[in-house]
Amino acid sequence: MNFKRGISLGEITMARFDVLGPIHKGLRNGLTELQFTASQLNFADLEQIKRLSEDLKVIVEILDAHAVGEDKFLFPLLEKVNSDVFNILIEEHGGLEGVQEDLISELGTIEKTEDVAEREELGSIFVKNLNDFIAHYFIHLQTEELKAIPELYNDFSDQELMHAVNQLATVTNSDISQRFVEFMMPAINPKERIAFMMGLKGTVPDSVFNNMLNTAETVLAKDDFKALVKGIS
Ligand SMILES: [Fe+2]
Repeated sequence: MNFKRGISLGEITMARFDVLGPIHKGLRNGLTELQFTASQLNFADLEQIKRLSEDLKVIVEILDAHAVGEDKFLFPLLEKVNSDVFNILIEEHGGLEGVQEDLISELGTIEKTEDVAEREELGSIFVKNLNDFIAHYFIHLQTEELKAIPELYNDFSDQELMHAVNQLATVTNSDISQRFVEFMMPAINPKERIAFMMGLKGTVPDSVFNNMLNTAETVLAKDDFKALVKGIS
């Protein structure tokens, strides 16, 4: 394995706008929760499989919307500065999307399998496939953060990058945005929560902004939510 560890301290400056950091924290949280649910699932129990299937579909919808947003608003900037990294990421989006659809259909097959022993056998294969997908997805996020973003820093201002990132939310329907905020809000730090909500102000309609804030209230500890409201007012 060709393994180079992360970023050397001091190699890049964190004073720049963290382009995908908070969003990726939310995706990692969603995927990790899904992995945990799947890993302890009793595949003899059809109700549990149904719930996992719903959770998987929500995550896949979030990932699809995120990839569409990146393809539309962020990668065109990357294409201008490094077409090699751009091509790698476009290919990864296509590959990951295919696996996401496979996972949904595998779980559909398991749901329809009547024999319990067979269902458990297929379930254990599904968990391995899900783990494999998540491992690859995490590497994809690393490629974006460690290879693509530094390229963007060279040629674009924080203002331009912020504008592109704020557009990402516009491709997502409000239900899915809300589910994503449930994963992201607890996964990011207090400063990032304030910056995220401030970024949305003026980009999305007031009703969407308020929905997101209400959703944040349902997933944050009381003091954390208070600090967020204070930070954005
Ligand atoms: Fe991506």
